[in-house]
Amino acid sequence: MMLVPPSTPTRAADPCCFVIFGATGDLTHRLLLPALYNLAAGGLLSDGFCLVGVGRTELSSDALRSNLAKSLREFATRPVDNAVADRLLDSVTHVQGGPDDPQTYEALGRELNRVERARPTKGNRLFYLATPPAAFAPIGCHLGRSGLAREENGAWRRLIVEKPFGTDLASARALNQGLLAVLKEAQIYRIDHYLGKETVQNILVLRFANGLFEPIWNRDHIDHVQITVAETLTVGRRGRFYDTTGALRDMVPNHLFQLLSLVAMEPPARFCADTVRAEKADLLDATQLPSNEDALHASVRAQYEAGYIDNEAIENYRNTQNVNPDSTTETYVALKLMIDNWRWAGVPFYLRTGKALKSKSTEVAIKFKQAPFAMFRDTPVDRLAQNFLILSIQPHECISLRFNAKVPGPSVAIAGVNMTFKYEDYFDATPSTGYETLIYDCMIGDAILFQRADGIEAGWRVVQPFLDAWANAGARQLATYQAGSEGPPEADELLARDGRRWRPIT
Ligand code: BG6
Repeated sequence: MMLVPPSTPTRAADPCCFVIFGATGDLTHRLLLPALYNLAAGGLLSDGFCLVGVGRTELSSDALRSNLAKSLREFATRPVDNAVADRLLDSVTHVQGGPDDPQTYEALGRELNRVERARPTKGNRLFYLATPPAAFAPIGCHLGRSGLAREENGAWRRLIVEKPFGTDLASARALNQGLLAVLKEAQIYRIDHYLGKETVQNILVLRFANGLFEPIWNRDHIDHVQITVAETLTVGRRGRFYDTTGALRDMVPNHLFQLLSLVAMEPPARFCADTVRAEKADLLDATQLPSNEDALHASVRAQYEAGYIDNEAIENYRNTQNVNPDSTTETYVALKLMIDNWRWAGVPFYLRTGKALKSKSTEVAIKFKQAPFAMFRDTPVDRLAQNFLILSIQPHECISLRFNAKVPGPSVAIAGVNMTFKYEDYFDATPSTGYETLIYDCMIGDAILFQRADGIEAGWRVVQPFLDAWANAGARQLATYQAGSEGPPEADELLARDGRRWRPIT
């Protein structure tokens, strides 16, 4: 996420050999390859770029190349130009081997030496771990110990690690320690694809490139903040992963906390990776850690039951393939968090996310304090529209402000209206996967949009009391909701207790 004047053409990324562990997997085919294609089509990949896949599957380089070519036609986000695709895929080779096997890294070393002699990669290597999470630590350690990731002679060596980064605070710490024993922090790029979304990046620009918002962005003017990531998607074929993970681990310490920290962090002194990431981690560090009892009181966990979404029948979560029929895993979570600093003391942050809900909607809603007294006789203050600033991330990319206006006519009648900025009205955006910026940034060594070890651990530290309290409470803490609804009534009660209401999920 480079800061440049608007008319400056973006330069091509550094040359490198892009090594994907898990090259036959879903992530590579659906997202990484289309993203690399978009970079190539935009002239942002260097001529020295080449791609090496590593995986257990016995596969020739030709076979991997033709599988990738097929997937590109299926998953590309724009029409595929054959010349660009051929140039991109021309360099693909495959190395077969498991993540725990030292011979894999010997074979990879030989392949890298060959490729680096044949192509002008300048010796730069980007290792992308697109594997199941259990393989992150072994691959990182082997890359470090084998010397394949050692930076020498001016060449950089970087590692992108996918989510989930750990399953709780202890495992996240252990993974950080394992990786940091063999690599420097500056070589590790922990990815969260929410930071690849333009509208998420825009939160920084909205807050810190405008003088308008900062003076009112605090406890004096803001009543509370709602962060919603609602999905219509069900757990579908991801039962095995999801049933041992649940909504809290899957979404909160990563995606929802990215939104939370961008919205609530202090202004960084400079726009660079260290200062931005330090402010984000500080914000999470200032978040209250509730006691066992308070964690139960400030959270709702629920599971979906059969229902309908867009007239399609959805089966009960417990009937999903590879899900335990007695599962108590949550598919919905709502939390109330409080931040102990001067800016936010006393301002609740309500977070909710769930699967199989009524509509897809990702938004941050900032509710400003109400006008203090009823100057307009016929419209008492509590009937005035509430002042909300809504940052809509998906599916509609827009920012809108809701305020009161006079209804035209001889008497003073008041109605709530919206002032809305839609991205599509101002900017031409080529459809993307969201991974383009992240991959490009890693290739130019810009880590602003990646997570640092302290940020990851600060996130898990905040969710850990909820994980512990739920584990102690067992199944009695689990509510249910109908698929296609807006979530469980218990989540409405969480806000109603404070005299507040969720914005409808529409
Ligand atoms: C992933 C989660 O990280 O994010 C999924 O594992 C979830 O369960 C997805 O569906 C949501 O991403 P997006 O970009 O569709 O909001």
